[in-house]
Amino acid sequence: MKRTLYLVGLVFLAACSTKIVSPTQADVDAMKDTDPSITLADLEAGKATYKNYCNMCHGYYAPSNYSAEDLQKIIPNMVGKVNKKSGSMVVNDQMQQQLMQYVLAVRD
Ligand code: HEC
Repeated sequence: MKRTLYLVGLVFLAACSTKIVSPTQADVDAMKDTDPSITLADLEAGKATYKNYCNMCHGYYAPSNYSAEDLQKIIPNMVGKVNKKSGSMVVNDQMQQQLMQYVLAVRD
């Protein structure tokens, strides 16, 4: 029993070691200059898309390693890869936009 708990703990730790930054209200406020209609729910949705689809082929890349300009090119390209690999449009335009807002918000 103890051993099982230990193993469960290890698996849990490993899963958490890939850090996906959670958006905060401060991120929303910082993004309001570029998009006044943005909400925390948009950034949460973007985070969910990132989490669900952006480690299908590689680990999670930290948005902070890329400039906003790079991300504006990379994200549409990668969303295209996600949809192609999935065989359907699992990430639609709105989700792509929220994903873009999320990576731009958490990279600062
Ligand atoms: C179908 C496979 C696939 C999926 C799904 C995928 N990627 Fe990638 N990604 C790649 C490959 C292959 C590369 C390296 C070559 C390249 O840049 O095309 C890459 C590279 C990257 C890079 C580094 C680019 C650079 O220029 O350094 C980033 C950042 C990235 N992916 C983010 C994402 C995000 C965000 C998502 C989710 C929307 C995603 N990827 C989904 C295949 C994928």
